Amino acid sequence: MRYETLLVHAGTQPDPTTGAIMTPVYLTSTYVQEGVGRPREGYEYSRTKNPTRVALEAALAALEGASYGLAFASGMAAIDAVLRLLPPGSHVVVGNDVYGGTYRLFEQVYRPYGLDFTYVDTTQPEQVARALREETRLIWLETPTNPLLRITDIRAVADLAHEHPARPLVAVDNTFATPYLQRPLELGADIVVHSTTKYLGGHSDVVGGAVVTNHLEVHQRLAFLQNAVGAVPGPLDCFLVLRGIKTLAVRMDRHSANALHVARFLEGHPRVVRVHYPFLERHPHYEVACRQMRAGGGMVSFQVESPEMAVQVAESTRIFALAESLGGVESLIEVPAAMTHASTAGSTLEVPPTLIRLSVGIEHSEDLVEDLAQALDKAASAR
Ligand SMILES: Cc1ncc(COP(=O)(O)O)c(C=O)c1O
Repeated sequence: MRYETLLVHAGTQPDPTTGAIMTPVYLTSTYVQEGVGRPREGYEYSRTKNPTRVALEAALAALEGASYGLAFASGMAAIDAVLRLLPPGSHVVVGNDVYGGTYRLFEQVYRPYGLDFTYVDTTQPEQVARALREETRLIWLETPTNPLLRITDIRAVADLAHEHPARPLVAVDNTFATPYLQRPLELGADIVVHSTTKYLGGHSDVVGGAVVTNHLEVHQRLAFLQNAVGAVPGPLDCFLVLRGIKTLAVRMDRHSANALHVARFLEGHPRVVRVHYPFLERHPHYEVACRQMRAGGGMVSFQVESPEMAVQVAESTRIFALAESLGGVESLIEVPAAMTHASTAGSTLEVPPTLIRLSVGIEHSEDLVEDLAQALDKAASAR
């Protein structure tokens, strides 16, 4: 089965009682049992198992080419579950450009609990190799990174991790690329994490997360944590992500084409100092990006002349909505230093205040370019 077909059908089967083609939203907290301690099909309580979530989890696994998938209440809950795999005293090597909330979780929640984190430029695999220690249990990659769109060679990092005596797990946050554009497990990663809030949901109407893996032991521990900690998505949320997945291919093709068009426009604009988009030939990791990704995805970031100008541009667009998050059909604009990445202020992960991040939607690309052109003109004339 080709990937586009898989996206439409993964995890979903006609409902056995009615033939409903869409997976029903099983709004139930509990299930009537056949006898004492004899649940039907293993369904006892919805924190532990819910049919809508089971369908989503099967789809998530299939999309990443994985044996096992688990759905969580948010991307952060999914990342949190992976961190809970590690005993106190463990060391984690992390990319030095990651989502601000990931950095906040690592530094403000897990460091006080006895985990140690080293942040390196994972686009240089030798920096990862140098940071590994006897107690390194996890390498945390985001590629493309949020917000600078840097690309890490997943296979190179996975190879060096698996050759190291500590044998750390390699986890990839695949939120920006989605499995349609990049499948980290096929490149040697052990765990893939998603904020399904973004492209998998695709319509800015749900918050969710996912973890997939091929390791049975890792999956069993994560499934235990999912139930024991309880950060599970509700059935309607699961339904919305399942529905979003069906159109992932057509949306990602359009997001990627629009983003490339916008990135090329920005590259030629006199007020734009630098554009970050992995499928621009000038991007420093263009070759790795072309090797491991099908297309560049919908995220573009760019730098302008001053922090004030970044704010003015972000406040002057008419189609791009000024908002955090990403991955929906509508275009969004934000200033990471003041919004999504405010928690990295003063750290080595601090992002430039002149940076603007775009989540390029599926509108007509000319409308998007015209909108950015007028916002840049307005910001320039206001100076
Ligand atoms: C790359 C990345 N990972 C994880 C998250 C966290 O996901 P959520 O907001 O669903 O908790 C985000 C949120 O923006 C993100 O951009």
